[in-house]
Amino acid sequence: MSGARHLYVHLPFCAARCGYCDFVTVVGRHARHGEYVDALIAELKLECGVLAERLETVFLGGGTPTFTEAGALQRLLRALPSCEELTVEANPETVTPDLASLLAEEGVTRVSLGAQTFQPHLLETLERRASPEVVRRAFYHLRDASFDNISLDLIYGIPGQSTSDLERDIDEALTLAPEHLSWYELEAKPGTRFTHVHGEELVRQAEEMEEYFERVVDGMTRAGYRWYETANFCLAPARHGARDLRSRHNLGYWLGRDYLGLGIGAVSTVGAERWRNTPRLGAYLEALTGGQRPLRDVEDLSAAVKREERVMLGLRLDEGLPLADATDAIDPRALDRLVAADLVRVRPANGAPPALVLTSRGRRLGGGVTAELLV
Ligand SMILES: C[S@@+](CC[C@H](N)C(=O)[O-])C[C@H]1O[C@@H](n2cnc3c(N)ncnc32)[C@H](O)[C@@H]1O
Ligand code: SF4
Repeated sequence: MSGARHLYVHLPFCAARCGYCDFVTVVGRHARHGEYVDALIAELKLECGVLAERLETVFLGGGTPTFTEAGALQRLLRALPSCEELTVEANPETVTPDLASLLAEEGVTRVSLGAQTFQPHLLETLERRASPEVVRRAFYHLRDASFDNISLDLIYGIPGQSTSDLERDIDEALTLAPEHLSWYELEAKPGTRFTHVHGEELVRQAEEMEEYFERVVDGMTRAGYRWYETANFCLAPARHGARDLRSRHNLGYWLGRDYLGLGIGAVSTVGAERWRNTPRLGAYLEALTGGQRPLRDVEDLSAAVKREERVMLGLRLDEGLPLADATDAIDPRALDRLVAADLVRVRPANGAPPALVLTSRGRRLGGGVTAELLV
């Protein structure tokens, strides 16, 4: 089968900029939402040759997709090719009953809700607009609109956070019983205002990260969630019929599949090429209004780079990756050493080809183990 089966669409608009955020975002600009959606639809037409006939997933990320003017968002959802999993990222304060119904009626199957934390003082530090109550209400509006696949995004390592704050976040997130949770370590970019304001506290938090990660993994797995990717957890099939609740879109990235990205700053990887669209709204709109592709940075991916990425991403998954996909990229002596140290395993899988997986200890150490494996 040829063609990319995963499509990412970037909706950059946000009501305000949160201090820690480093994504491609544009504050406000209501008057341009419709024009931007027209440009996205034009870009989709220009690029549709890259896509497979049938898509597996579409992901609308941001920015704040649900801050996009409702008519424009609806037009975009109607213009998208059909797929098996359609995810939209949502900020809690934008989720009204009307918005939740609009998403459900337009075929969205999964919502990823940016909770970040349930502690008021930490939400304030992150400069978030939603209170914990608003986060909970948004979740229930989505449930009321019949969403049965909701993911929560949470962040740890926030300036001022204590381990008991984290334990409370774990409890409060579990109380909502989402199908999926992503837990991210706060990354603060050097040189930003956020880093300047919280510098010393960020250093203290960095020292606690391993402990926080351990608590998150324990809390999630004890509650019956499958730790299927370094930062991602889903309800295990045993508790949820036969449904596989992993993010199929993100699995596409982790399995090294091709994907097309539309919108400002969006990245695409197709075959041996990776390109990134201009992050500048004006330049993007101008190009597409004139029927042209937006400016892009293009990178050629060598076979060696692709193999290395396959190992780095594949080892983030609990299933690991087929040993055959890894052999050319890994150092056999390092593999022997790491197997002896109980950090890596070569798992025979019921007649399937052998797979390379990190052990539970290896997964807790994460990237360091993978880096040692690579030649
Ligand atoms: C594209 S972002 C933003 C989605 C949405 N606008 C929001 O704020 O909820 C997706 C997720 O990345 C995570 N994230 C954003 N900035 C981060 C940072 N500096 N460090 C760690 N995680 C971050 C947040 O959990 C966020 O929900
Ligand atoms: S709302 Fe989300 S995308 Fe927008 S600035 Fe805040 S974290 Fe970034």
